[in-house]
Amino acid sequence: MSFDFDQPIDRSGTWSARWERYSGRDVIPLWVADTDFRAPPAVLKAFSERVAHGVFGYTEVPQALRAAIVERMRDLYRWHIEPGWIVFLPGVVPGLHLAARHLVAADGHVLVPTPIYHHFKRAVQLAPREHSDVPLVLSSGRWVLDEERLAQAVRRDTKLLFLCNPHNPGGTIFTRTELERLASLAERHDLRICSDEIHADILLEPGRPHVPIASLSAEISRRTVTLMSPNKSFNFPGAGCAFAIIEDAAMRRAFSSDLHATVHDASVFGYLGAIAAYREGGPWLHAQLAYLRANRDLVEQAVARMPGLAMVQVEATYLAWIDASALGVADPHALFLEHGVAMSPGAQFGAPEFVRLNFGTQRAHLTEALRRLAGALEARG
Ligand SMILES: Cc1ncc(COP(=O)(O)O)c(C=O)c1O
Repeated sequence: MSFDFDQPIDRSGTWSARWERYSGRDVIPLWVADTDFRAPPAVLKAFSERVAHGVFGYTEVPQALRAAIVERMRDLYRWHIEPGWIVFLPGVVPGLHLAARHLVAADGHVLVPTPIYHHFKRAVQLAPREHSDVPLVLSSGRWVLDEERLAQAVRRDTKLLFLCNPHNPGGTIFTRTELERLASLAERHDLRICSDEIHADILLEPGRPHVPIASLSAEISRRTVTLMSPNKSFNFPGAGCAFAIIEDAAMRRAFSSDLHATVHDASVFGYLGAIAAYREGGPWLHAQLAYLRANRDLVEQAVARMPGLAMVQVEATYLAWIDASALGVADPHALFLEHGVAMSPGAQFGAPEFVRLNFGTQRAHLTEALRRLAGALEARG
């Protein structure tokens, strides 16, 4: 079966967060991380069948979904988990906030690698918990954790290490060796780990697998909360379904204490989408990755030709983290917006001299957006 990711899709009037913000303006919106692609046919079919049934009452977690996740972890990562370790959530974001509130006591301290997806920081700020930012470093063309700085940032009251793997916005797939070193740091200092692996399926480098940090050993599994979701990979975040995998029963209970109260269940469409995607979405995902890889290459080649901009290869995610510091402008996001491209401002992730470009869109949009970026730079002379 072939899938047409070039097919133009008009999202105006559908309450798309990304498109509505600039509606009525000649702006190509490449900011928030969803894609402009229709979800896989199997997901659409599952949704339509339930719509035809017509009743959308309170819904139990389907056992079939627990089974599909157990199978997926075993098949993709040789990671053996129990169905009872899975805690369902309406999204990964509430998982980050639950981790900050319930895995660290009020007087505890958290390590946050930066730049990072903004909800990690919001989670520690709102909990609130003390935290230290630990800057990623550029090493051989990859954004990686600086283990020495990480170790230096550990305090007596440090209880939790936040991890984003693959990394948003850096685009890094952390290697097994890198993760083993992190795991050993966590063991040495008796830290819990909350690992957001929402981008685990969006791998753009063949031969570069994703490794869930909890799959490294029984010891690491017991101290880790792994957050995953089909939302990004199969593009239905508006339906919403995510899950945490937590082996340790006490940690699972603590993490789950807000569920069905301040944190709502996932929606019936989230469950339906997840089962369909995990059981039948493989060929679609594979085709999407090929399309995204070609988009990634297009962005890299275009950026390489733009004086003042630089980026490293995006190993995973559909987000390019573009360094605009050499332009010497205070707000590169504003500069490009003036020329009709809305990216995410780097400031959102802790690096104002960067912009983040979402290339999960039809190639025609992307090509026009890249032309506008080049035009913005030419106009500066
Ligand atoms: C690293 C990361 N975590 C979480 C989310 C959002 O997750 P959800 O929509 O499932 O709450 C995103 C979305 O961009 C993300 O990049």
